[in-house]
Amino acid sequence: MIQLLQLLLCTIPLVVGEVLPLQLDLDNSQITIRRSASRDDKLQVFHSIWGAIRSDFATDTDKVKGLYSQLGGYIRDDVQCSSGSTGRSACELQQEVRRHLRTLMAQRLANLLNAEESIQTYGMYIAASVEPALVRDILVHAIEDVYFHRPLEKLVQQLEQLYADRDEVSFRTMIEAQLALFWRYQAMQDSSEAYLFNVAHMVSKIRSHHMYASVDADLQKRVEALSQRLPPVLDLLFDPQGFCLLSRSDREYIYTTITDEWNYGLNGRQMFSWREKNFTDTAGLTRAFVQEQHSTPLFTLRSELFKWYYFVDPSQGNRLAALRSGSPSSSTSTWTIAYAGDALIFRQRELTLCAAEKFDDDRRLVKMLPGQMHTPPSEACQWLPIACAPPK
Ligand SMILES: *[C@@H]1O[C@H](CO)[C@@H](O)[C@H](O)[C@H]1NC(C)=O
Repeated sequence: MIQLLQLLLCTIPLVVGEVLPLQLDLDNSQITIRRSASRDDKLQVFHSIWGAIRSDFATDTDKVKGLYSQLGGYIRDDVQCSSGSTGRSACELQQEVRRHLRTLMAQRLANLLNAEESIQTYGMYIAASVEPALVRDILVHAIEDVYFHRPLEKLVQQLEQLYADRDEVSFRTMIEAQLALFWRYQAMQDSSEAYLFNVAHMVSKIRSHHMYASVDADLQKRVEALSQRLPPVLDLLFDPQGFCLLSRSDREYIYTTITDEWNYGLNGRQMFSWREKNFTDTAGLTRAFVQEQHSTPLFTLRSELFKWYYFVDPSQGNRLAALRSGSPSSSTSTWTIAYAGDALIFRQRELTLCAAEKFDDDRRLVKMLPGQMHTPPSEACQWLPIACAPPK
């Protein structure tokens, strides 16, 4: 055995008998073992290789990975964990190698996250190298490693990079990573609005992705469980079906007029809140789109019936109106969105979207008002997202 180790460390090819299944490439060292070698002899060799790797190649992921998979085959074909001392020893060794491999991969991933470098290639390498359970284990450990060190809302976006376009394996890896981060967040009982916001957005992207249907049922179940823990108000905000908005003060919904052209000829339509309480229909159907994904994302809001965008007209007392699609200017058509309880709050700079004075018996103006920067603002400036009544 000492001779074997010396050979390994000197990286001289070592061949015992003919080339057989048990084979490791240690920096040009070929180790082969006779097919007839006993289980105990093979285990001895594995121990020796592990010793050599630990002393000279401890950070060489490929070598550790090679040994890990060879050990897996040996345990599958030759011994069982419960089959006496050889089996137990083999499985202890496998677990030790696994632990080391997990550490190497998790550390590398954590380092990339900290350096804000791309994790996509390494993520794919991990997923291609080890079994799904170990991939999960590695993700959990990498996230644990950086959890207190990185802004959580930013981590959501970094983990999203694990997904490589049109690659299903990387899609699943990305989902596993988001789940690992979320359950860590839950376990810590942390509270971060910015993080929840980004997760809700991420979950809506995952669920509406065309590959989601082919993801295995167990993973889908775990995504749905996460989604149930999100504030319902965020679930609605990111709902691809859209939502209606009721003012908390009067329970009047915001809608885009069907006939009232405005100011801009064919390019603008008036918007109001309708004074019949709790009434909604498709004229109020709205979708929120993330425009720029900063730590505080910027949104556009689109009236879905005509696909026109909400905008604010400063020349009309900052009234809300709808503008034909394709032309929203960023200063008057992008919002930051906060939430308080079950209500959404829409802001542009120092102004907040509020139900304002009556326009006539049926309608009320909706305006951007100053002086509502506290959270929550007055009830006229809190909007409850709800499902719109379907078309009749
Ligand atoms: C509007 O809906 C809320 C919640 O369902 C309900 O409590 C309230 O009574 C309704 N108001 C009217 C006028 O229908």
